[in-house]
Amino acid sequence: MKDIYYAEKKLTKALGKMAKNATEPKLKQAFLTHQSQTEDQISKLEKAFGLLGVPPKAKKCAAIDGLLEESNEHIEEYAKGAGLDAAMIVGAQKVEHYEIAAYGSMRSFARTLGYGDVALIFEQIREQESDTDELLTVLAEGVINLKAEGETEDVSESAKSAAAEHKAGSEDSEAGEDSSSSYSGREGGDDALAGDGMMNGDDDATIDEETTNNPDDMADDDASNGEEDIVISSLTDGGDREGESETGEPMGY
Ligand SMILES: [Fe+2]
Ligand SMILES: [Fe+2]
Repeated sequence: MKDIYYAEKKLTKALGKMAKNATEPKLKQAFLTHQSQTEDQISKLEKAFGLLGVPPKAKKCAAIDGLLEESNEHIEEYAKGAGLDAAMIVGAQKVEHYEIAAYGSMRSFARTLGYGDVALIFEQIREQESDTDELLTVLAEGVINLKAEGETEDVSESAKSAAAEHKAGSEDSEAGEDSSSSYSGREGGDDALAGDGMMNGDDDATIDEETTNNPDDMADDDASNGEEDIVISSLTDGGDREGESETGEPMGY
């Protein structure tokens, strides 16, 4: 939970940057919508922490850092246009698949341990991630890659490469889709779709958080004093987000 809590907080920034760099209006809107959903997911996670009786804390997630680094590279590598749109879809779908896997496991563990209310929260978020993945597939198979093919030779080749990468991921997703969920609740999904989640403004996103004396946390950390400083600093151009950590300290991003 600490891992995905960290990931979601970073993703709010990343989605803003992706929206800012998207050319296709439908893709831009998809990123903004999911940014809004992601903020809602952070609240849901905080509720889950509360149901488990533990304070919400973030723990550095190397996986999401790596995926977002890749996404940043795409943005730096491609000029704005259909080629970059296609590349960002690839990056975003990799993130969605990571989240789908994480929330699927968390849901199952919570269910097995008898935390049905927590399992329901995880399943609701997993469904949002899955819906986003499917929407990105629709966009990839629709207008974006067709436009990418019409761009200059260089960009067209890049887009084809990105599309090929995406196609492989999409097929994996379909094969791995969990269709056995016993949950039908979709709380929040439609609400989030209505939100615009605009996050304008440039800043350096920095989250300094989690200082804990919890022995479990100390075991996770390199630092022997139990303190864990997490700095979130990449993919920050998408905007500013006000917030504070649940330790009561302002999240300085
Ligand atoms: Fe998420
Ligand atoms: Fe997501």
